[in-house]
Amino acid sequence: MYRIKSKNDYEQSYTNALEAPEKFWADIAENFHWHKKWDQVKSGNFTDLDFKWFTNAKLNITENCLDRHLEKRGDKRALTFEANDPNTPTTHYTYKELHQAVCKTANMLKDLGVKKGDRVCLYMGMVPELLFSVLACARIGAIHSVVFGGFSAQSLADRINDCECNLLITNDGSYRGAKSIDLKGIADEALETCPTIKNVLVHKRIESNITMKEGRDVWWHDLYDKASSDCPAEVMDSEDPLFILYTSGSTGKPKGLMHTTAGYMVWAAYTFQNVFQTDEQDIYWCTADIGWITGHSYITYGPLLNGATTLMFEGVPTWPDAGRFWQIVDKLKITHFYTAPTAIRALMACDEKLVEAASLSTLKVLGTVGEPINEEAWHWYDQKVGKKNCPIVDTWWQTETGGIMISTLAGIGECIPTYATKPLPGVKPELVDEKGSVIEGNDVSGNLCIAGSWPGQARTVYGDHERFKQVYFSTYPGKYFTGDGCYRDKNGNYRITGRVDDVINVSGHRIGTAEVEDAIDTLESVVETAVVGYPHDIKGQGIYAYVICHSTPSNLEEFSKQVKDQVTKVIGPIAKPDKIQVVTGLPKTRSGKIMRRILRKVAEGRPDQLGDTSTLLDPSVVDDIVKNAQ
Ligand code: WT7
Repeated sequence: MYRIKSKNDYEQSYTNALEAPEKFWADIAENFHWHKKWDQVKSGNFTDLDFKWFTNAKLNITENCLDRHLEKRGDKRALTFEANDPNTPTTHYTYKELHQAVCKTANMLKDLGVKKGDRVCLYMGMVPELLFSVLACARIGAIHSVVFGGFSAQSLADRINDCECNLLITNDGSYRGAKSIDLKGIADEALETCPTIKNVLVHKRIESNITMKEGRDVWWHDLYDKASSDCPAEVMDSEDPLFILYTSGSTGKPKGLMHTTAGYMVWAAYTFQNVFQTDEQDIYWCTADIGWITGHSYITYGPLLNGATTLMFEGVPTWPDAGRFWQIVDKLKITHFYTAPTAIRALMACDEKLVEAASLSTLKVLGTVGEPINEEAWHWYDQKVGKKNCPIVDTWWQTETGGIMISTLAGIGECIPTYATKPLPGVKPELVDEKGSVIEGNDVSGNLCIAGSWPGQARTVYGDHERFKQVYFSTYPGKYFTGDGCYRDKNGNYRITGRVDDVINVSGHRIGTAEVEDAIDTLESVVETAVVGYPHDIKGQGIYAYVICHSTPSNLEEFSKQVKDQVTKVIGPIAKPDKIQVVTGLPKTRSGKIMRRILRKVAEGRPDQLGDTSTLLDPSVVDDIVKNAQ
């Protein structure tokens, strides 16, 4: 197996991966099922951007997630589903049952004409059929593109059109706490502008009145019950695309990061096993949504590749009350619990009795992901949830990295509040200064880059390799630039300090300032907008929008509502600005560039720290902005 078991093991593995990467990765890859093994473990580089892993190997990732376990773990629980409503009985699927469900789903897709290489969009709630659909695509070699169920019709349409999906799978609606979301209605609106979609497969989840479009829409249950549970896996090349997942950046529309089959598989499996260190009987729960990379790698692929039991939760942490997570932990005897700092902060702010009412005695390992965790939240998590008895793995990674890059290995490495700590073997972090020089030594800060490829890395931006190069490899040629700032302490531990680009991290969701600005600018009354992030107690960062209008709105409250509604309509509720300030001008340099540094300081409530404003075209706009700050 490929499990690191001790500190010594870790150090040895780190050296091995550095000095003899081909052997290191070949030894790990040996653990999987291949139709044909690789000719070369790795090839290519960051200059030509042609890196590949396990070249010419043949495999199917679902055989590794499912078929491979049938003999030894056929009757073991693979997937447990906890519904939104606590009174709904929990459902369980063994590896045998999950295998059947995935094969049936795959046959439905085939019946609908989906072929290897086709793109399938999944716009669903957190129901088991979402996970079946993800794996069904992989089973037949179709490329899945999951779109988070909180995105708007326009965002969904943009994503469908960008990669020209021909099938959309959705629910009639989804439950989220006390609310339900009209997924099919939103999908119908999106599809008015999506010519490539031939069919919509609709899984019924809620009781709702939806319209089924003749000739286009088909009910899941009509096909599923008839579908055969025999579906041989399509044999894929190691570098065949597995999925596309959209994420926001500093500029432009969200990018479709493309991950390929073998490298991603090895990375998801290896990182899951070594970071979480689950044992055969453990029950693992990651609270993310499958609409994000965390749900791809650590609800779906990572746990299943390791034969673990993974829990999918449909609801929200605060409904029916803010003790829901803790009640589920006790009820399902969760051993490994992986969530986001924003959830911890939100629950911390609720009645302590709710967490104290739970025993939480089955917990062994806690994890966090998505944003920097503050000291207070870390200690609350450690004391109230972990009872000072569970290692906390603070896992740093990104949609682009495919899986965890820097993290403590549970029970092996040191846990230091607010630190991701050490890189996994195979990961070479470098801190780089503004000029591009690598900063050596310890107790230093810089921009975080990764030197050299790792198997799980995204291979391109779908349909735009030039943009891939531009965004990640041009700032510091020859290195992958993460967009994060980072501190390395005197012992070589890494602490991620947050984005250094124009990306805001709101409740662990990545939001590009440009996207929010563009959305607000579509309002007729608006001339120009500048958006920045500011520290927010629960969300980590909040969104602050400075808006110039053609004429000052007579009712500011009404105007703010319009702005929020517009952002919700164009992007989705997650990108709604928290604060909106109408301004008469924006601080611009003589070349017309907005000085966001100034806007950030005002949003932060630190107008005393504006620094040099003399290079501004019109420094007087700053006084006006400071005077009317929200
Ligand atoms: C960005 C990536 C990784 C899956 C979820 C988010 C921030 C992520 C941490 C962490 C500090 C973190 C970074 C990164 N981030 N994990 N443990 N500590 N910051 O994936 O949407 O691609 O966002 O999230 O800023 O660049 P994503």
